[in-house]
Amino acid sequence: MPSRVRVGSVADFADGKLHVVDAAGTSIVVGLTGDSLCAARNRCPHLGFSLTSGPGGLRYADGQVVCPWHNSRFDLASGENLDWTPGFAGRDMPRWSRRMIALGRKPSPLTTYEVMVEGDDVYVEL
Ligand code: FES
Repeated sequence: MPSRVRVGSVADFADGKLHVVDAAGTSIVVGLTGDSLCAARNRCPHLGFSLTSGPGGLRYADGQVVCPWHNSRFDLASGENLDWTPGFAGRDMPRWSRRMIALGRKPSPLTTYEVMVEGDDVYVEL
């Protein structure tokens, strides 16, 4: 059964950066995409690692987040995978190596959550 969890105030996310918040024990990322706040589970669908900490560092721009491990790129609003395992730790690798880096995993989307803004409060539906 879905539950609604307050994750902060609008001002907490107004800087356009990707923020990590704890929502009832689930680590999620929240960021602005255009004029809207979007949220996704802070867990890469490739191997389940954090989207915000790893050897490639946090990378978020234009509503897209890049996994710090194998550089898979995702649209934060839809969760869609835009590029799958093109490298390691922020460095691109030769195209032929992508399948090896993928370790047999097929491209998958992020788990996204609905975000609601009520007054100054931001909620996610888990
Ligand atoms: S863990 Fe994210 S691309 Fe591999």
